[in-house]
Amino acid sequence: MRSADWYGGNSKDSYIHRAWMRRGNPDDSLTGTRPQIAIINTASDLAPCNMHLDEVAQSVKNGIWEAGGVPYNLPMVSLGESNVRPTAMLWRNMVAMSTEEMIRANPVDGVVLLGGCDKTIPALLMGAASVDLPAIVISGGPMLNGTFKGQLLGCGTGVWKFSNDVRAGKMSQEDFYNSEKSMIRSKGHCNTMGTASTMASMAEALGMSLPGLAGTPAPDSRLLQGAHASGVRIVEMVAENLKPSDIMTKSSFANAIVALGAIGGSTNAVVHLLAIAGRLGVQLTLDDFDRIGSRIPLLVNLQPAGEFLMEDLFRAGGLGAVMKEVQQHLDPGAITVTGKPYIESLKNAEIYDEKVIAKYSAPLQPEAGIAVLKGNIAPDGAVIKPAAASKNLLVHTGKAVIFESIEDFHARIDDPNLDVDENSVLVLRGCGPKGYPGMPEVSNMAIPKKLLEKGITDLVRICDGRMSGTAFGTVVLHVSPEGAIGGPLSKLQNGDLIELNVPERSLNVKISDQELAARPASAAMVQALAQPHRGWEKLYIEHVEQSHLGADLDFLRGASGSKTPRESH
Ligand code: FES
Repeated sequence: MRSADWYGGNSKDSYIHRAWMRRGNPDDSLTGTRPQIAIINTASDLAPCNMHLDEVAQSVKNGIWEAGGVPYNLPMVSLGESNVRPTAMLWRNMVAMSTEEMIRANPVDGVVLLGGCDKTIPALLMGAASVDLPAIVISGGPMLNGTFKGQLLGCGTGVWKFSNDVRAGKMSQEDFYNSEKSMIRSKGHCNTMGTASTMASMAEALGMSLPGLAGTPAPDSRLLQGAHASGVRIVEMVAENLKPSDIMTKSSFANAIVALGAIGGSTNAVVHLLAIAGRLGVQLTLDDFDRIGSRIPLLVNLQPAGEFLMEDLFRAGGLGAVMKEVQQHLDPGAITVTGKPYIESLKNAEIYDEKVIAKYSAPLQPEAGIAVLKGNIAPDGAVIKPAAASKNLLVHTGKAVIFESIEDFHARIDDPNLDVDENSVLVLRGCGPKGYPGMPEVSNMAIPKKLLEKGITDLVRICDGRMSGTAFGTVVLHVSPEGAIGGPLSKLQNGDLIELNVPERSLNVKISDQELAARPASAAMVQALAQPHRGWEKLYIEHVEQSHLGADLDFLRGASGSKTPRESH
């Protein structure tokens, strides 16, 4: 084992490594014969969705000891989506890089990845993939259902809806404040099919979690039981040398894309899966999401696209029951952390509530996966989630109303004199990976108050940023290349006619190629990158790739492997 390079033999160096690590553990724990397992733990009081992961880590430790391994808690930088500014996405790659470096630097033979809140699971998977030691994911699980005045209240989704209701005069400020107290009811991550629930499902569909574990509510004792079992399994995986690159193949990415469609998952999964694939050298492209996923029917009736919440999905049979329904679309070649084919894990899956999980023969929507749009506004692509969009807007032509930043948007959107109506197309730019920086979740721009008062609840919106997985609407996201690097988005002008055609997968401005090429980028976009930056932000802006490639740093693509570094003494 790799850890034998630290602990094996009886030299001055192995003496030093062992002596400092004994700490009351049995003699044979440091002879280089028992697997040394790091539990990469993103518990943090400032990442509320991951606050409970120390408790989960304890169950993992019990399982590791039981199976003959030796566990170590390895605290990792954490990202609380609701807290960090300007956006948690700015640091996803930093967490991935820290994960990679700390695994490689330490006497570790295998890793358990403990995440939950949106960016933590993708970051851990990216880092672990670049080291490629045996790894298993445990997602911290969703919180319990919230309710307000007898109605289900989903994290995030409720905020977007209620804040629009307040602006439209349909909800009092007092009710708005009181609803806040019942939204986050227990430990766990967001309980809608937002990014955290989606990425937990992606980790399992990729084969990186024990089948059946994703979506287990955080307060449910079965999460701890699954954590214990994962601790046992990682020790076996080290013995079998079963690595992320054996599990996360093109076949498993194809299965994850099928899952993304069937669960109506977050558009954020697109950038995360592309980035994880980039670490493994798997040739995954934006077009694969449309080719594999767009025709997959929507089976899961969860907010934001539907009615229920994650606790209901778990009760109704969980991800396994969903995936059994779409089994004919799955690649049978994909395996899981069990070493067995993914499809074998679905044998006993069953739907227990068809209001929550629809049958394949009677889907909630026939084609629900993410659609990839191209055209003169987005030569490298843009995405839309038709399941969360208004059907009547999927083919739409309207005049552009341009905003140069989210601050510009907030300052003007409710101006009674703003030239906007129900046919307008709102365009927000400067929100891409480099421009913001970090590609924030600002794309689901609020509807102008004067239109809300007329009962208009959706407009076509276009942005080079991302959208919260808990949000909804006819929102075109991840426009690439972004405005701040001079992409065509930076050249649009107020009043330009924008043509969206989702069935034809196109997004165009109705001007000639010559005119578009001749137009300069807006002054705001030219200035976006001109300010001085330092530290991580500088490194990030200089090296982040565009969203259609996964927004990883260019020098983090690929793998460095698990080779033992040079001795330290
Ligand atoms: Fe953490 Fe939503 S804020 S998962």
